Amino acid sequence: MDLKLRPSFFFSFLIFIFLLQKPALVSASSSKCISIERQALLTFKQSLTDPSGRLSSWSGPDCCNWRGVRCDRRTSHVIKIDLRNPNQTVYSDEFKQSCLGGKIDPSLTHLKYLSYLDLSSNEFNGLEIPEFIGHIVSLRYLNLSFSSFSGEVPASLGNLSKLESLDLYAQLWPSFDLRASNLGWLSGLSSSLTYLNMACLNLSGAGENWLQDFTRLSKLKELHLSSCGLKNLPLSLSSTANLKLLEVLDLSENSFSSLIPNWLFDLTSLRELFLQADDLKGSVPSGFKKLKLIETLDLSNNGFTGGIPAVLGGLPQLKYLDLSGNSFQGQIHKFLDAFSKNKGNSLVYLDLNYNKLVGTLPESLGALRNLQILYLASNSFTGSIPSSIGNMTSLKQLDLSYNSMDGEIASSLGKLEELVDLNLMANKWEGVLLKSHFVNLRSLKSFSLTTEPDRSLVFKVPSTWVPPFRLELISIESCQIGPTFPMWLQVQNKLNSVTLRNTRIADKIPHSWFSGIASVVTSLTLENNRIKGTLPQNLVFPNLITIDLSTNNFEGPFPRWKTNAAEIYLYQNNFSGSLPLNLGDLMPRMERIYLFNNSFTGEIPLSLCRVTGLHILNLRNNHFYGSFPNCWRSSSELYGIDASENNISGEIPESLCVLPGLIVLLLNQNALEGNITNTLQNCSSLTHIDLGGNNLTGKLPSWPSKMSDLFMLRLQGNSFEGQIPDDLCIVPSLHILDLSENKITGPIPKCISSLTDIVQGQGFENEQGIVSVITRNSKYQEIDYSINLSGNNITGEIPSEIMDLSYLRILNLSRNSIAGNIPGNISKLGRLEKLDLSRNSFSGAIPQSLAAIYSLHTLNLSFNKLEGTIPKRLKFEDPSIYVGNELLCGKPLPKKCPRY
Ligand SMILES: *[C@@H]1O[C@H](CO)[C@@H](O)[C@H](O)[C@H]1NC(C)=O
Ligand SMILES: *[C@@H]1O[C@H](CO)[C@@H](O)[C@H](O)[C@H]1NC(C)=O
Ligand SMILES: *[C@@H]1O[C@H](CO)[C@@H](O)[C@H](O)[C@H]1NC(C)=O
Ligand SMILES: *[C@@H]1O[C@H](CO)[C@@H](O)[C@H](O)[C@H]1NC(C)=O
Ligand SMILES: *[C@@H]1O[C@H](CO)[C@@H](O)[C@H](O)[C@H]1NC(C)=O
Ligand SMILES: *[C@@H]1O[C@H](CO)[C@@H](O)[C@H](O)[C@H]1NC(C)=O
Ligand SMILES: *[C@@H]1O[C@H](CO)[C@@H](O)[C@H](O)[C@H]1NC(C)=O
Ligand SMILES: *[C@@H]1O[C@H](CO)[C@@H](O)[C@H](O)[C@H]1NC(C)=O
Repeated sequence: MDLKLRPSFFFSFLIFIFLLQKPALVSASSSKCISIERQALLTFKQSLTDPSGRLSSWSGPDCCNWRGVRCDRRTSHVIKIDLRNPNQTVYSDEFKQSCLGGKIDPSLTHLKYLSYLDLSSNEFNGLEIPEFIGHIVSLRYLNLSFSSFSGEVPASLGNLSKLESLDLYAQLWPSFDLRASNLGWLSGLSSSLTYLNMACLNLSGAGENWLQDFTRLSKLKELHLSSCGLKNLPLSLSSTANLKLLEVLDLSENSFSSLIPNWLFDLTSLRELFLQADDLKGSVPSGFKKLKLIETLDLSNNGFTGGIPAVLGGLPQLKYLDLSGNSFQGQIHKFLDAFSKNKGNSLVYLDLNYNKLVGTLPESLGALRNLQILYLASNSFTGSIPSSIGNMTSLKQLDLSYNSMDGEIASSLGKLEELVDLNLMANKWEGVLLKSHFVNLRSLKSFSLTTEPDRSLVFKVPSTWVPPFRLELISIESCQIGPTFPMWLQVQNKLNSVTLRNTRIADKIPHSWFSGIASVVTSLTLENNRIKGTLPQNLVFPNLITIDLSTNNFEGPFPRWKTNAAEIYLYQNNFSGSLPLNLGDLMPRMERIYLFNNSFTGEIPLSLCRVTGLHILNLRNNHFYGSFPNCWRSSSELYGIDASENNISGEIPESLCVLPGLIVLLLNQNALEGNITNTLQNCSSLTHIDLGGNNLTGKLPSWPSKMSDLFMLRLQGNSFEGQIPDDLCIVPSLHILDLSENKITGPIPKCISSLTDIVQGQGFENEQGIVSVITRNSKYQEIDYSINLSGNNITGEIPSEIMDLSYLRILNLSRNSIAGNIPGNISKLGRLEKLDLSRNSFSGAIPQSLAAIYSLHTLNLSFNKLEGTIPKRLKFEDPSIYVGNELLCGKPLPKKCPRY
């Protein structure tokens, strides 16, 4: 059966194949794909990797139809291979996925008529450029850019004597160090090459004469040598004759550290010249006037000095001029006058940011009629905006920020219909802003204006004025907009970034304004106004990152907003009521929340424990009650807590110590109770602890000795009793110790000299800086290097070890039962500023050496048993600091000392 059926089946199969092939056979006369070339392509394909299947069409018989392949119509020879990555969004996942890689097979050399080869934007992972590419001598176009080749560029490329375009642009990252240390082979391309790109290739090994090799390329129109590690820019050149056709020259981002060489001005065909970030110096030579065709000139980020030469203003074709980031000095009048005389001036882009330019902006600015971008920021310009600015009708972006401009703002600005971005930040503007300043600013999207707080700059527009613009960014500071929240702001419903700081708005803001921008706004800063009224509830702000409503008169409940905001600043307002219990779920991305100085009440929401990214929690000075949350988790990043000045009761929660990074814990002025013998013993990362002003009891804790970075320990105003344990001395990092107003007894321990930071003077700024950030309060800064044991019942004498604490600034031992003499060597505390020994039982004379502490500005020795003459060199004039010592005499006390 099988044998019988097979022939007929085979026959019909052949017919089927024939029918399929028929169209191909019919067109065979118009010739398709030469088989040896097809084979070469297949071999080439085999050695490539192709994860996204870009070469899946490379299988049929007609290689001329394969994707990326083109044949000559007449001869059918393969003439073009274009395997450039179709996705040019570099570093994107799509780009990476569609990269070819692997090896490049020498079979390519069988394509004897190949004139175009593009393997750019792929990922060859450090492969060397194969030497045999130089054997495909038919090539006119070769593009190997951005494909992670490395190693030395093969000299064989010099055999490609028909090559017109060579693109070897390498990427800086990831760098595979593609380099060319001998450029002699370029001479082989001298009669054909018009385009050469070697940007980001390492040419540092090419020697001092690197330029000579390029000057042989007599057909060259474009040369790109940006970021090539070139160090030497020859000041003279034997011949530039060969570069007469050069139109584009990019030598940017090298390290020439030289002057601009004069041979550049012989390249009179130049249209584009890029010399930015080359460490060039000196002044800009007048030779530029020879470059009459120049359209683009980038000299930014060098060390140029001197004035901006007028010669640049006379260049008739100049469209794009970037001189930013240099040290150009002086005024810009001559330079701009040159433009205004150059009637046909075509300048579109002018960047003078970050220089040292001074003087006023001249009226001739208005002559730059085609200018679209004008950047004059970060100079020292003074005066006002010239009214001719209204003539610059093409202007789209104007940046005058960070200057010293101090005049009025010209109302002719209001004519600039095309203006999109107006930045007037950080100047010293004065005067008024009227409707006319904005009347035609239909296109304005971004408006920034700040002046110094002591200047008077006022918006005087009709309260019902509706402006022609809908802004996306507004940033106004120290400029009076209020007292009302004006109509022109109310109608802004496209805002994604709002800063209205210190604008004297003292009004309610309509709830509809907040809901109108809720879906787009990313930053909402209304800091330091007097805005009143409540906030709308239950809004969703999907893009909000920063909410800063601090220092206003907002009232009513906390805004129940669903946001991913990281920064939430509502401090210094009149907010009241309790926080939403699900606060942590409404704002799950919060990193810093500052609610201090309000009237919030109720319990602290436990949902905060779930916000693992929370870093700083500041609830100071509200009316929170109940116990402090005890649900903290080890995954939390919380490092700073300030819940001081509330009515928090109960015990200090044990779970605080699971927080691995907790460094600042301020729970002072609350109603906490219980004994803390063990409570914080596992909080080993703490640096600042303030538990003062609570109702804590029991013995002083021993855990401070386990905290190797403890900087501040304040336990004042509680009911601690018993002696000061040695564990409170053996804390070498401690700078601030406050045990005042407790029931402590016994002597000052001798181990006090183990507070080695106070002995040697270490630490300080960083430690205190972090507390300032967490508290926004400088109070703790003022008590660095201090010991306060006042208001206890400490007995015994001052131990001599205390004199080792040579960096101590504040020592308060008042209101104890300390006896004995004031040590004669007290001047060893040479940095002491405040010393209070009042209301003890000190006896004997006041040591003369006290007067040797020059920093001492506050002293109190009253109510002791001191006797004898007050040392003359002690300059304190207030007698009250000595009263209550019956046997003391001399100035400033009225009692005279007996003469002997
Ligand atoms: C390239 O990838 C980006 C995403 O990274 C995508 O938006 C784009 O459409 C892709 N382009 C092409 C031509 O595939
Ligand atoms: C080389 O290819 C890249 C894209 O991969 C392209 O941007 C560049 O313009 C090409 N070079 C030339 C000279 O065509
Ligand atoms: C091609 O270049 C290499 C290296 O420069 C050289 O050794 C070789 O002779 C050249 N071949 C031809 C055919 O010019
Ligand atoms: C550039 O190449 C030279 C040798 O030609 C080498 O010494 C240098 O380290 C390379 N520079 C970089 C940044 O790879
Ligand atoms: C340019 O501005 C100045 C000053 O505002 C004005 O006097 C002059 O008429 C304007 N020139 C033109 C052509 O608009
Ligand atoms: C402190 O605690 C004691 C007993 O534990 C209590 O009698 C006293 O009222 C508390 N004081 C304050 C101010 O809470
Ligand atoms: C304080 O607590 C510790 C353990 O937490 C306990 O051993 C000690 O007796 C307590 N002291 C007082 C006075 O309650
Ligand atoms: C202080 O302690 C001493 C000795 O322990 C005692 O005699 C004295 O009464 C105490 N003073 C006060 C005010 O508690």
